Amino acid sequence: MSIIQTNISLKPYNTFAIDCNAKYYAEIKSVAHLKEVFANEVALQRNLLVLGGGSNMLFTKDYDGLVLKISIKGIEVKEIGDDVLVTAGAGEVWDSLVKFCVAKDYAGIENLTLIPGTVGASPIQNIGAYGVEVKDVFESCTAFEIATGKLKTFNKAECEFAYRESIFKGKLKGQFIITSVTYRLSRIPHIQTHYGAINAELERRGIAKPTIADVSEVVAAIRVSKLPDPSTIGNAGSFFKNPIIDQAAFDILLPQFPDVPHYPAANGRIKLAAGWLIEACGFKGMLEGNTGTWKNQALVLVNHGGATGQEVYRFSEKIINAVQQKFDVVLEREVNIL
Ligand code: FAD
Ligand code: EPU
Repeated sequence: MSIIQTNISLKPYNTFAIDCNAKYYAEIKSVAHLKEVFANEVALQRNLLVLGGGSNMLFTKDYDGLVLKISIKGIEVKEIGDDVLVTAGAGEVWDSLVKFCVAKDYAGIENLTLIPGTVGASPIQNIGAYGVEVKDVFESCTAFEIATGKLKTFNKAECEFAYRESIFKGKLKGQFIITSVTYRLSRIPHIQTHYGAINAELERRGIAKPTIADVSEVVAAIRVSKLPDPSTIGNAGSFFKNPIIDQAAFDILLPQFPDVPHYPAANGRIKLAAGWLIEACGFKGMLEGNTGTWKNQALVLVNHGGATGQEVYRFSEKIINAVQQKFDVVLEREVNIL
């Protein structure tokens, strides 16, 4: 029996809560399942969308192809000295994995608490938050090659990770479906509290020597204070990447905007805070029809209910234009537009 369904609403499967349909849809619960679909449904493979938790997507129209929702589960642990190799199925919920590891005192991903989505998507844009990126703990991933039906393992160097980038978004886009990811965690914590308000929040709680559970809790609290909860307000987190500019452009910008937050980036370049740029253009908390920016974080575009993907997209263009006009900086969307 075919596991492929037709005309399925994607509203429950995207955190922006955009109302749209997939022409074909299948939930994949195992590698065998995946092989079955690819063996039997050759014609449908041409217009394929791999979906995890749908927390980094904006659907601007119905999907006229096959959506494969990856729900491959399972967590395996291998201890090697002080290191712990944790392998999780691509369909495991990322934050559940974080909670599992924090409870077992496996250190390394506590700063990535409460990021929505799945394990399988974690290497795609090299998820990051609060001073840690997944590349810092990534060991390898196993992926199904669509063209050949074979499984291939990628090590860290092969993934070409960078800020919100990997080979899976670049050269290999659309060619592999990640089935599991292995992270190298540690029994010896390397507590990282330098980013943003972590230290201040620990101090406020009277915690001088934080455990990874403390860091996880504090990161969760900071995130809740800034970001809208997708279960009540549709959104996909940061809509744009933080722009990275070269020194020459920064030398022109700084005298005009001495307060502009900036951070060192790779190759002597400078990362700016897109949220600050957007707020400075007057967009923070703005309401435009059913869409807008979040009141506590201008980088997050929201669906206040009933917004279409087109409406959100058009609003994002308005933001790009305003930021370009004021700062001569071009924002790039972080969210996948479909
Ligand atoms: P989806 O949105 O379903 O897919 C994202 C991309 O990955 C698509 O291109 C899809 O085709 C591909 N993909 C998914 N699964 C697979 C697979 N198994 N194999 C191959 N390709 C696959 N991101 C951060 O980095 N840091 C944050 O702090 C952060 N905060 C967020 C806060 C909120 C409230 C929200 C809604 C989002 C936030 N995000 C953040 C973005 C999002 O959580 C991440 O991008 C996450 O990794 C997306 O996972 P997903 O499973 O939902 O992927
Ligand atoms: N800022 C403003 N106004 C705003 C938002 C931010 O002035 O409306 C300023 C803040 O005051 C701060 C700076 O911008 O000086 C950075 O803000 P914040 O620490 O909130 O982080 P961010 O750069 O806006 C990035 C990630 C988030 C991640 C946080 C924490 C990107 C595109 N976004 O946001 O990731 O959670 O850092 O590490 O890199 C996501 O990718 O979806 C996401 C939420």
